[in-house]
Formats: sequence, C-alpha cells, structure tokens
Amino acid sequence: MPDMITCNQTPAWAALQQAFQTQGKSFDLRAAFDHDPERFDRLSQTAPHVFADLSKNLIDKDTELLLFTLARQCGFEAHRSALFAGDAINTTEQRAVMHWLLRFPSQALAEHQPDAINNIATELADVHATLNAMLDYAQLVRDDTGITDIVNIGIGGSDLGPQMAVSALESFRLPGKRFHFVSNVDGHELTSTLSDLNPHSTLFLIASKTFTTIETMTNAHSAKAWFASQGGTDTERHFAALTTNVDAAHAFGIRNTFGFWDWVGGRYSVWSAIGLPLAIAIGPEGFREFLAGAHAMDEHFRTAPLELNLPVRLGLLDVWYRNFHGFTSRSIAPYHSSLKRWPAYLQQLEMESNGKRVNEQGETLPFATSPVVWGEPGTNGQHAFFQMLHQGTDVVPVEFVAVKKPRHTLEGHHTLLLANVLAQAQALMIGKTDAGGHRNFPGNRPSTFLLLDDLTPQSLGALIALQEHRVFVSGSVWGINSFDQWGVELGKVLAKDLQLRLISGDRADLDGSTAGLLSRLCK
Ligand code: F6P
Repeated sequence: MPDMITCNQTPAWAALQQAFQTQGKSFDLRAAFDHDPERFDRLSQTAPHVFADLSKNLIDKDTELLLFTLARQCGFEAHRSALFAGDAINTTEQRAVMHWLLRFPSQALAEHQPDAINNIATELADVHATLNAMLDYAQLVRDDTGITDIVNIGIGGSDLGPQMAVSALESFRLPGKRFHFVSNVDGHELTSTLSDLNPHSTLFLIASKTFTTIETMTNAHSAKAWFASQGGTDTERHFAALTTNVDAAHAFGIRNTFGFWDWVGGRYSVWSAIGLPLAIAIGPEGFREFLAGAHAMDEHFRTAPLELNLPVRLGLLDVWYRNFHGFTSRSIAPYHSSLKRWPAYLQQLEMESNGKRVNEQGETLPFATSPVVWGEPGTNGQHAFFQMLHQGTDVVPVEFVAVKKPRHTLEGHHTLLLANVLAQAQALMIGKTDAGGHRNFPGNRPSTFLLLDDLTPQSLGALIALQEHRVFVSGSVWGINSFDQWGVELGKVLAKDLQLRLISGDRADLDGSTAGLLSRLCK
C-alpha cells in the first residue's frame, strides 16, 4: 500500500495557495481568451468517445501544472497503480476496488500491468463466466415475448446506474418490453407500479449487493406477495436476483441468481449483474459495447500522461475549485432528455464516494472534500435555477453534456437544443456588463463542456468511467477512502428503533423534537 501524504502539507499545495492569491482569485476568462488565441486548443482534449472543452474554467496552464505536481506529491500515481493492481485500497473494509475488471476484455490480460496479472487472472475468468451467463439470460428474456414488463427492485447503486443507463440508451431499447424501477420504501411507488402489471407477463429483478437493504427487501417481499395473490405461480420464470449474497436470495425463494463480488462497490456496479436491466434492454452485444467504451476510458486513465489525462484533469479541477476557490457545489446539465437521471447518478457517485470528513487513517481533515452535486437536464434547468447560476451570489461551476447527433427526426429541435447549451455556457462566461442593476450579468462563471458524437452504449460507458475515475482522482489527492460509506449507517440503525416506537408509541429517552413528532404521528 503506497504511503499517502496529506495534500495540504505538500509544497504544491502552498504554491497553489500562492497562485490563487496572486492570479487565481482575480482570473478573468474573457481576458484569458483575449490574451491567448490558442486557449481553446490548450485546454480542450479528446479522450475515448468524449471530447472535453475545459477552456471556460477559471484556470490557466501554469495552475494546471501545479495541480499535476500536487497529484504527484500526494502519491496519486502509486494509488492509481494500486487500483489497477487489485490492491485492497478500500482500507476500512479491506477490499480491492476492481469495477474496472468488470469491463476488462478476457484476451487483454497480457497488456495489463504484468506484475498484477497473477492477482487478477482468477477473478477475470470468474467475471467473464458470470457475464456470459448473465448475457445468455438477458437474451432469453428478450426472446420471451410473454414477458413484457421488467421491474427492477433495488436502491442506491442497485437502482441509479441501471435506471440511468436504460433511460440514456432508450433509442437502443428492444420494443415490446417496458422497464420499471422501484427503489423507495414508500409503498406508493410499488403500488402504482404494480397497478399496471400482470403477474404472468412480469419479471422482477431483485437487485441488492447485500440482499439485506431494508427498502429493497421490503419491496421484494411485497412484490412476491402481490405475485402470489394475483395467481402467479412460476417464480423461477418471474423472479431473478442480482446479488453477492446468493444464499440469502435462495432463502428468499429465488433460484435464478447472478452474482458479483465484494470488490465491486454499489455505486460502481452497473457493469456487473446489476446491469441486467440494461443488458435486457439493449441486448448482449450492446452491453458488451457499453463495457468496451468504459474499458477504453480505463486504459486512457491508466496510461495517458497526467497532462493529457481527462479524468485527472477533471478531478484536479475539482480540487482547485473546492479547496482554493472554495466553491461548494457543481451543477450537472445534460442537454439530452434521455440523460434525465445523469445528475442523480453522479450525485451518489461523487457524494457517497467523497463526502468524507476524515482521511484514510480516520483523522479529521482540515480542508473541504466533496462538493454538492446537483442538476437537471437542459433546457428545463434554464427555466428553473439558471437564474441563480447567472446572477446569484455564489459561483457554481456547471458541467454540460451535449450530444452532436440526435436520434429523432423532428426538424429544428436539435439545432435549437445545441444553440441553447452553447448559449448558456457562453452567457455564463461573457456575461453582460453594459447594463446596470437587475440586468447586469457578471459573467466569468466557469463551465466544462463534455461533447459526445452520439449517445451510444460505447460512449455512455466511456462517459460513466470518466466520472468514476475523476472521483477517484480528487479522493486520492484528499487522501480519503472513496470506496466506503459509513455515513449511511447511523440513519439505518435509528430507523429500526423508530419503526418499533411508531408501533408502540414509546418516546422514552428520545430528543425533544423526535419525541414531539412521534407523538403527533402516533395520535
Ligand atoms: O446507501 C448505502 C448503500 O450501501 C449504497 O452504497 C448502495 O448502493 C445501496 O445502499 C444499496 O445497497 P444494496 O445493493 O446492498 O442493496
């Protein structure tokens, strides 16, 4: 395990503080473009399936060089090697972190880090055997015209990834199948989903890494009871489980199970059996392309020099904004309605990974970590919160995603959509300072522009992997464990206690507010 150095004690951190004081805080994008006609070329780059324009960010080449130095001084390169060697870098759970192996082609092992081959060869064989079985099953379901509705019951990473991806790739979806995602323990969600379904034509996928998550298990039991009450009998045909806990799935009564491994974090699991809804939707070949797109980004991240490494550049920009500019959030604006769940997906990826206040050793950090990640697809966001982005008191970096090629034939729409995304990025930067008061736009508001030629299984795979790695980069610099999520535990324990108290009415030893609310709910 490489020694991690605290980022704020490195010489590069001090140099960045100085750079922020001397030029960073007064940096003006408009002046930067005036002084450097090559700025767009210098600060944009091509990575597999994704073109990124970073030039509208509050950064210059010298600052970026300091950020690369920071990464090196923090031991980032050794940490990245440890990730791809299968070392147990999730130190609080003593687990390797190998979601990248799920998209690793079976024949490519020899080109990988030679010293790591022995560590991962067995797992890779397992990965491909499971992938083949899962894709065979996906094909069976696709061919089964009697199954018209697929209901994924899962939450967090067992919901957000497949839901986002099935929606993103709706143009590639098999006609004749409908996909539903039930995550919330709120019974309204399951009830309204079931109200439209026929048990004889429905397949339930119970998606849970642990097969213990209370929301998922509650929904799964209710779905099973509904299935029986509606005359459903063939559980084998109508239920499958996607889980690392195959025994628990068997105990639940499900024979058809697709497994994965403890080295796949929930929010990194769309590439595993958790991706089954997507595999059914776009087919085995489509799913393999999805994996291939992600693998191309993995190789880029693993091998490209830091200066030309897109996940590295994005992750370091996040550090620059969070720790030097003090920006507290990042707004996600996909200009593609199929990417409607993209902001929610990134929310879990960034905030569950890097929303930590202690370092790997459990010591309190003296600097800020994960920003708040939030957003909505454009152009809708423009008519909701873009007012604040343009004229509010806080500066919020925006991350646009645009797709060059539409997959519909409606005339004029796509040009208008692209005009809007360009206009928003442009307006944020140039502002409008010739009018006073309410009509003044300060401008100089940063944004990143990610551009795909087409939204395909490959490009979506690459786009997701890009985000996974960028989160790794900032987490690595901050010296935190991006792969655990202890912060979700306390609420789970308290909910169990309060579930009993809601039944008994017992308010003993509760804080005043919770006791007050409980007594109103129990009246
Ligand atoms: O919210 C905590 C969490 O553990 C997430 O990390 C995970 O994606 C989600 O719950 C669901 O977990 P499981 O797949 O085990 O049901």
